[in-house]
Amino acid sequence: MSRTIVVTGGGTGIGRAVALRFAEAGDAVVVTGRRPAPLKETVAASGDRIRALECDGADPDQLRRLLEQLPERVDVLVNNAGGNTDFDRAEPDSLESLSQQWQANFTANVLTTVLTTQALADRLVDHGSVISIGSIAAEFGAGAYGAAKAALATWNISAATDLGARGITANVVAPGYIADTEFFRDQLTPERRAHLIGSTKNGRVGQPSDVAETVFFLASAGARHITGQILHLNGGARTTR
Ligand SMILES: NC(=O)c1ccc[n+]([C@@H]2O[C@H](COP(=O)([O-])OP(=O)(O)OC[C@H]3O[C@@H](n4cnc5c(N)ncnc54)[C@H](OP(=O)(O)O)[C@@H]3O)[C@@H](O)[C@H]2O)c1
Repeated sequence: MSRTIVVTGGGTGIGRAVALRFAEAGDAVVVTGRRPAPLKETVAASGDRIRALECDGADPDQLRRLLEQLPERVDVLVNNAGGNTDFDRAEPDSLESLSQQWQANFTANVLTTVLTTQALADRLVDHGSVISIGSIAAEFGAGAYGAAKAALATWNISAATDLGARGITANVVAPGYIADTEFFRDQLTPERRAHLIGSTKNGRVGQPSDVAETVFFLASAGARHITGQILHLNGGARTTR
Protein backbone atom coordinates (compact mmCIF):
# COMPACT_ATOMS: atom_id res chain seq x y z
CA MET A 1 0.00 0.00 0.00
CA SER A 2 1.28 3.47 -0.88
CA ARG A 3 2.38 5.54 2.10
CA THR A 4 2.59 9.31 2.52
CA ILE A 5 6.09 10.58 3.24
CA VAL A 6 7.11 14.13 4.20
CA VAL A 7 10.78 15.05 3.71
CA THR A 8 11.92 18.44 5.00
CA GLY A 9 14.74 20.09 3.06
CA GLY A 10 13.91 17.81 0.14
CA GLY A 11 15.04 20.23 -2.57
CA THR A 12 18.73 19.31 -2.43
CA GLY A 13 21.33 16.74 -1.42
CA ILE A 14 20.36 14.09 1.09
CA GLY A 15 16.73 15.20 1.30
CA ARG A 16 16.27 14.89 -2.46
CA ALA A 17 17.84 11.40 -2.48
CA VAL A 18 15.55 10.32 0.37
CA ALA A 19 12.48 11.71 -1.40
CA LEU A 20 13.37 9.99 -4.68
CA ARG A 21 13.98 6.67 -2.88
CA PHE A 22 10.47 6.64 -1.41
CA ALA A 23 8.93 7.86 -4.69
CA GLU A 24 10.66 5.04 -6.59
CA ALA A 25 9.05 2.59 -4.18
CA GLY A 26 5.62 3.97 -5.07
CA ASP A 27 5.04 6.13 -1.99
CA ALA A 28 3.38 9.55 -2.19
CA VAL A 29 6.11 12.03 -1.26
CA VAL A 30 5.93 15.69 -0.23
CA VAL A 31 9.16 17.70 -0.03
CA THR A 32 9.48 21.00 1.81
CA GLY A 33 12.08 23.75 1.86
CA ARG A 34 12.37 27.52 1.71
CA ARG A 35 13.58 28.00 -1.88
CA PRO A 36 11.19 27.14 -4.71
CA ALA A 37 13.86 26.49 -7.38
CA PRO A 38 15.53 23.42 -5.79
CA LEU A 39 12.13 22.02 -4.82
CA LYS A 40 11.06 22.23 -8.47
CA GLU A 41 14.22 20.34 -9.47
CA THR A 42 13.32 17.50 -7.10
CA VAL A 43 9.82 17.37 -8.55
CA ALA A 44 11.28 17.26 -12.08
CA ALA A 45 13.82 14.56 -11.11
CA SER A 46 10.93 12.40 -9.93
CA GLY A 47 9.01 12.78 -13.19
CA ASP A 48 6.42 14.93 -11.37
CA ARG A 49 5.63 12.14 -8.91
CA ILE A 50 6.80 14.21 -5.91
CA ARG A 51 4.84 17.20 -4.61
CA ALA A 52 6.69 20.28 -3.32
CA LEU A 53 5.46 22.75 -0.69
CA GLU A 54 7.44 25.80 0.37
CA CYS A 55 7.85 25.92 4.14
CA ASP A 56 10.42 27.17 6.61
CA GLY A 57 10.37 24.40 9.18
CA ALA A 58 11.33 26.78 11.98
CA ASP A 59 8.41 29.15 11.36
CA PRO A 60 5.18 28.27 13.25
CA ASP A 61 2.94 30.23 10.85
CA GLN A 62 4.42 28.51 7.81
CA LEU A 63 4.04 25.13 9.50
CA ARG A 64 0.35 25.81 10.16
CA ARG A 65 -0.08 26.70 6.46
CA LEU A 66 1.79 23.52 5.52
CA LEU A 67 -0.66 21.45 7.55
CA GLU A 68 -3.55 22.85 5.51
CA GLN A 69 -1.94 21.46 2.35
CA LEU A 70 -0.87 18.05 3.68
CA PRO A 71 -2.98 14.89 3.62
CA GLU A 72 -4.82 13.88 6.79
CA ARG A 73 -2.50 10.91 7.29
CA VAL A 74 1.29 10.93 7.16
CA ASP A 75 3.14 7.63 7.51
CA VAL A 76 6.73 8.84 7.62
CA LEU A 77 8.30 12.18 8.57
CA VAL A 78 11.94 12.69 7.60
CA ASN A 79 13.44 15.67 9.44
CA ASN A 80 16.30 16.32 7.08
CA ALA A 81 16.32 20.14 6.92
CA GLY A 82 19.37 21.70 8.49
CA GLY A 83 23.05 22.27 8.00
CA ASN A 84 25.99 24.14 9.45
CA THR A 85 24.94 27.78 9.24
CA ASP A 86 28.53 28.82 10.01
CA PHE A 87 29.24 28.39 6.29
CA ASP A 88 26.92 31.34 5.60
CA ARG A 89 28.39 33.84 8.08
CA ALA A 90 31.64 35.42 9.23
CA GLU A 91 33.53 34.13 12.28
CA PRO A 92 31.93 35.67 15.41
CA ASP A 93 33.87 38.64 16.82
CA SER A 94 31.49 39.76 19.54
CA LEU A 95 29.05 38.27 22.05
CA GLU A 96 26.24 39.44 19.76
CA SER A 97 27.58 37.64 16.70
CA LEU A 98 28.39 34.55 18.82
CA SER A 99 24.79 34.57 20.03
CA GLN A 100 23.56 34.82 16.42
CA GLN A 101 25.84 31.96 15.37
CA TRP A 102 24.44 29.61 18.02
CA GLN A 103 20.85 30.66 17.48
CA ALA A 104 21.18 30.12 13.72
CA ASN A 105 22.51 26.57 14.12
CA PHE A 106 19.89 25.67 16.73
CA THR A 107 17.12 27.16 14.61
CA ALA A 108 18.25 25.32 11.46
CA ASN A 109 18.79 21.91 13.06
CA VAL A 110 16.82 21.68 16.30
CA LEU A 111 13.83 23.98 15.89
CA THR A 112 13.02 22.76 12.37
CA THR A 113 12.89 19.20 13.70
CA VAL A 114 11.08 19.86 16.97
CA LEU A 115 8.46 22.20 15.48
CA THR A 116 7.81 20.13 12.35
CA THR A 117 7.40 16.94 14.39
CA GLN A 118 5.04 18.63 16.83
CA ALA A 119 3.03 20.17 13.98
CA LEU A 120 2.62 16.79 12.28
CA ALA A 121 2.27 14.63 15.39
CA ASP A 122 -1.51 14.27 15.15
CA ARG A 123 -1.26 13.42 11.44
CA LEU A 124 1.25 10.61 11.96
CA VAL A 125 -0.35 7.21 11.64
CA ASP A 126 0.00 4.63 14.40
CA HIS A 127 3.10 2.50 13.70
CA GLY A 128 4.56 5.27 11.55
CA SER A 129 8.15 6.56 11.61
CA VAL A 130 10.00 9.78 12.40
CA ILE A 131 13.57 9.83 11.12
CA SER A 132 15.81 12.81 11.78
CA ILE A 133 19.18 13.51 10.21
CA GLY A 134 21.88 14.11 12.81
CA SER A 135 25.61 14.26 12.21
CA ILE A 136 28.96 12.81 13.14
CA ALA A 137 29.69 16.40 14.20
CA ALA A 138 27.70 15.74 17.40
CA GLU A 139 30.45 13.31 18.47
CA PHE A 140 33.40 15.58 17.72
CA GLY A 141 32.48 18.93 19.27
CA ALA A 142 32.22 21.01 16.11
CA GLY A 143 30.97 24.15 17.85
CA ALA A 144 27.41 25.35 17.55
CA TYR A 145 26.57 22.95 14.70
CA GLY A 146 27.81 19.87 16.57
CA ALA A 147 26.04 20.97 19.74
CA ALA A 148 22.82 21.46 17.80
CA LYS A 149 23.03 17.96 16.31
CA ALA A 150 23.77 16.55 19.79
CA ALA A 151 20.66 18.31 21.10
CA LEU A 152 18.68 16.84 18.22
CA ALA A 153 19.84 13.34 19.20
CA THR A 154 18.80 13.91 22.81
CA TRP A 155 15.43 15.31 21.73
CA ASN A 156 14.95 12.09 19.75
CA ILE A 157 14.83 10.11 23.00
CA SER A 158 11.86 12.22 24.14
CA ALA A 159 10.22 11.83 20.74
CA ALA A 160 10.62 8.04 20.88
CA THR A 161 9.07 8.05 24.37
CA ASP A 162 6.14 10.31 23.48
CA LEU A 163 5.31 8.64 20.17
CA GLY A 164 6.11 5.10 21.28
CA ALA A 165 2.67 4.55 22.83
CA ARG A 166 1.27 4.74 19.30
CA GLY A 167 3.89 2.37 17.91
CA ILE A 168 5.64 5.22 16.11
CA THR A 169 9.41 4.89 15.99
CA ALA A 170 11.81 7.86 16.24
CA ASN A 171 15.42 7.48 15.19
CA VAL A 172 18.39 9.58 14.15
CA VAL A 173 20.58 8.78 11.16
CA ALA A 174 23.96 10.43 11.78
CA PRO A 175 26.06 10.68 8.59
CA GLY A 176 29.74 11.42 8.27
CA TYR A 177 30.95 13.22 5.17
CA ILE A 178 28.39 12.97 2.37
CA ALA A 179 29.35 14.36 -1.04
CA ASP A 180 27.17 15.95 -3.72
CA THR A 181 25.08 18.18 -1.46
CA GLU A 182 25.03 21.93 -0.79
CA PHE A 183 26.19 21.38 2.81
CA PHE A 184 29.70 22.81 2.49
CA ARG A 185 28.63 25.59 0.11
CA ASP A 186 31.87 26.12 -1.89
CA GLN A 187 34.13 25.94 1.16
CA LEU A 188 35.35 22.33 1.20
CA THR A 189 39.03 22.39 0.24
CA PRO A 190 40.58 19.37 -1.53
CA GLU A 191 42.78 18.86 1.55
CA ARG A 192 39.83 18.80 3.95
CA ARG A 193 37.90 16.47 1.62
CA ALA A 194 40.90 14.11 1.44
CA HIS A 195 41.15 14.19 5.25
CA LEU A 196 37.46 13.35 5.65
CA ILE A 197 37.71 10.41 3.27
CA GLY A 198 41.01 9.32 4.84
CA SER A 199 39.28 9.22 8.26
CA THR A 200 36.99 6.42 7.11
CA LYS A 201 37.94 2.74 7.40
CA ASN A 202 36.72 1.95 3.90
CA GLY A 203 38.25 4.93 2.07
CA ARG A 204 34.86 5.56 0.56
CA VAL A 205 32.97 8.78 -0.15
CA GLY A 206 29.52 8.79 1.44
CA GLN A 207 26.69 9.43 -1.00
CA PRO A 208 23.18 10.83 -0.45
CA SER A 209 21.87 7.45 -1.60
CA ASP A 210 23.64 5.79 1.37
CA VAL A 211 21.57 7.92 3.72
CA ALA A 212 18.43 7.39 1.65
CA GLU A 213 18.70 3.60 1.89
CA THR A 214 19.16 3.71 5.67
CA VAL A 215 16.20 6.07 6.10
CA PHE A 216 14.10 3.83 3.84
CA PHE A 217 14.97 0.82 5.99
CA LEU A 218 14.07 2.61 9.24
CA ALA A 219 10.64 3.35 7.77
CA SER A 220 10.12 -0.29 6.75
CA ALA A 221 8.21 -3.12 8.41
CA GLY A 222 11.53 -4.76 9.28
CA ALA A 223 12.56 -1.87 11.54
CA ARG A 224 9.54 -1.72 13.89
CA HIS A 225 11.60 -2.59 16.99
CA ILE A 226 14.28 0.01 16.34
CA THR A 227 13.46 3.24 18.14
CA GLY A 228 15.24 5.89 20.21
CA GLN A 229 18.49 5.06 18.42
CA ILE A 230 21.25 6.84 16.55
CA LEU A 231 22.39 4.98 13.44
CA HIS A 232 25.90 6.07 12.49
CA LEU A 233 26.63 6.09 8.78
CA ASN A 234 30.21 7.19 8.27
CA GLY A 235 32.42 4.48 6.76
CA GLY A 236 33.87 3.85 10.21
CA ALA A 237 35.14 7.40 10.69
CA ARG A 238 33.61 7.08 14.13
CA THR A 239 33.02 3.64 15.57
CA THR A 240 30.72 2.36 18.31
CA ARG A 241 30.72 -0.68 20.58
N1 LIG B 1 26.58 16.54 3.64
C1 LIG B 1 27.15 16.12 4.76
O1 LIG B 1 28.35 15.83 4.78
C2 LIG B 1 26.31 15.94 6.02
C3 LIG B 1 26.89 15.22 7.08
C4 LIG B 1 26.17 15.04 8.25
C5 LIG B 1 24.88 15.55 8.37
N2 LIG B 1 24.35 16.25 7.33
C6 LIG B 1 22.96 16.76 7.52
O2 LIG B 1 22.17 16.27 6.46
C7 LIG B 1 21.05 17.13 6.27
C8 LIG B 1 20.92 17.45 4.79
O3 LIG B 1 22.06 18.21 4.41
P1 LIG B 1 22.73 18.11 2.95
O4 LIG B 1 24.11 17.61 3.15
O5 LIG B 1 21.85 17.43 2.01
O6 LIG B 1 22.90 19.66 2.61
P2 LIG B 1 21.99 20.65 1.77
O7 LIG B 1 22.05 20.25 0.34
O8 LIG B 1 22.43 22.02 2.13
O9 LIG B 1 20.50 20.38 2.30
C9 LIG B 1 19.91 21.07 3.37
C10 LIG B 1 18.46 21.31 3.01
O10 LIG B 1 17.77 21.82 4.15
C11 LIG B 1 16.89 22.84 3.72
N3 LIG B 1 16.65 23.72 4.86
C12 LIG B 1 17.57 24.36 5.61
N4 LIG B 1 16.95 25.11 6.54
C13 LIG B 1 15.62 24.91 6.37
C14 LIG B 1 14.46 25.41 7.01
N5 LIG B 1 14.54 26.30 8.02
N6 LIG B 1 13.24 24.98 6.60
C15 LIG B 1 13.15 24.11 5.57
N7 LIG B 1 14.20 23.62 4.90
C16 LIG B 1 15.42 24.02 5.30
C17 LIG B 1 17.63 23.51 2.56
O11 LIG B 1 16.72 24.14 1.65
P3 LIG B 1 16.35 25.70 1.70
O12 LIG B 1 17.61 26.44 1.95
O13 LIG B 1 15.76 25.96 0.34
O14 LIG B 1 15.34 25.82 2.80
C18 LIG B 1 18.30 22.33 1.89
O15 LIG B 1 17.47 21.77 0.89
C19 LIG B 1 21.30 18.34 7.17
O16 LIG B 1 20.54 18.21 8.36
C20 LIG B 1 22.78 18.25 7.48
O17 LIG B 1 23.11 18.88 8.70
C21 LIG B 1 25.02 16.45 6.16
